Amino acid sequence: SKRTKIKALLTGEQTGMEVTVMGWVRAFRQNRFIALNDGSTNNNIQIVVDFENTDPALLKRITVGAAISVSGILSESLGQGQKVEIPASVIEVLGDCDPEKYPLQLKNRPSLEYLREIAHLRFRTNTFGSVFRLRNALSFAVHRFFQERGFVYLHTPVITASDAEGAGETFRVTTLDPAKPPLTESGEIDFKQDFFGKATNLTVSGQLEGELGAMALSDIYTFGPTFRAENSNTTRHLAEFWMIEPEMAFCDLAENMDTAEALLKYVISYALEHNREDIEFLSQRLLEEEKSKPQQERSEMNLVEKLQFCLDNDFERLTYTEAIEILRNSPHNKKKKFQYLVEGWGTDLQSEHERYLVEKHFKKPVILTDYPKEIKAFYMRQNDDGKTVRAMDILFPGIGEIVGGSQREERLDKLEQRMDEMGIPKDELWWYLDTRRFGACQHAGFGLGFERLVLFVTGMGNIRDVIPFPRAPKTAEF
Ligand code: 4AD
Ligand code: MG
Repeated sequence: SKRTKIKALLTGEQTGMEVTVMGWVRAFRQNRFIALNDGSTNNNIQIVVDFENTDPALLKRITVGAAISVSGILSESLGQGQKVEIPASVIEVLGDCDPEKYPLQLKNRPSLEYLREIAHLRFRTNTFGSVFRLRNALSFAVHRFFQERGFVYLHTPVITASDAEGAGETFRVTTLDPAKPPLTESGEIDFKQDFFGKATNLTVSGQLEGELGAMALSDIYTFGPTFRAENSNTTRHLAEFWMIEPEMAFCDLAENMDTAEALLKYVISYALEHNREDIEFLSQRLLEEEKSKPQQERSEMNLVEKLQFCLDNDFERLTYTEAIEILRNSPHNKKKKFQYLVEGWGTDLQSEHERYLVEKHFKKPVILTDYPKEIKAFYMRQNDDGKTVRAMDILFPGIGEIVGGSQREERLDKLEQRMDEMGIPKDELWWYLDTRRFGACQHAGFGLGFERLVLFVTGMGNIRDVIPFPRAPKTAEF
């Protein structure tokens, strides 16, 4: 028989019709009322069991966590709390679940830390149901944004021989035997004998390949997994994360910023429109969590208001140099409340500084531009001042950096000179340099960290809770 999703039934439109639902038991009260969930919504459908006429052996198998199938006529509910219910005419247990061993009994709400340890089952909680439905909606919205604007979705490789960011935080990929690797005459590991013919690693960014695509297709975007072997055990970093990287030919930094701001607003507004229920659920969850905090630490806005606020306001745009001045003269800096005091020009901003600008000073998303060239990647367009590059970082409340991007250096001589200064091997990137030889043009792009976006929209506090199977130091159980 054809099965219907619970979300569709709860609207009540199919009242009076014979329906079949399949899902997992969330609760079974008084041998009479089953709360059934199939992940299409956090709202369960109530199944009414005629227990006097049901085999007691079957009743015993209806336990929390069991997979069951139910058929009956969708009816208006006489009880409180739900519009419709299904008086069961047929119940079948599809998969038993031993209540003694099942770790997700509803009696006491499991902590997020505990659920991280049972990541294989956490999908079955309302919190993670909402998070992963939102993750899905956001990724769909990302594609829709770019497709509506004529961007080509370009698949860039996961195995590559370059380190686009030049940060050296790559995971090596090799088929060589680490116990007895082939050696060159000078005694070094001979990667030429590897299947790829050279030392390879997992990609840290699809940007360089993306630029090749943009130099013919004009506007492209990537959306795939990227890898960083940084050993940072924070709530904002993963070793494996998904990145969205548009690259646009004939585009400058201003248009790049416009595109990034429009993308962020588009996907947030899509989620508010299509996944309102999930956002409201998570908003409520946050409010309850905040009750345990002192008044002054609670946020002024709830999650829905925070998202709406982000849509209603232009992001603040200023240069790195202006930001440093604000930070240096801030009461926070003068009272030495920063762990790292802001003294002068040239150093990278710490996340505490980024959050100060966004949360305390401007109180809205901020785009910082024109960073010192020393703290940015080799491919960024150099400004005429000889000191800064056309970089942009977008900083979000509660998140810090969510987007990093730039206008690219399209002038071959300037690019080569910068690569030399930074010790980036030009011979390995000959294919990248070719685009500067054959019809080079102004172009720009950025990278949006997808999990940081999901963090913002769900209001979750730890990046490990917005990706199904987090990869971070000491967490690769699943
Ligand atoms: O600033 P990043 O390193 O920029 C690049 O990779 C450029 N190639 C992008 C481009 O211009 N096409 O990373 C971009 C974004 C960051 O702003 C952040 O949101 C996210 O990727 N990110 C991470 N997210 C989770 N875990 C990590 N370890 C991350 N590192 C970066
Ligand atoms: Mg960055």
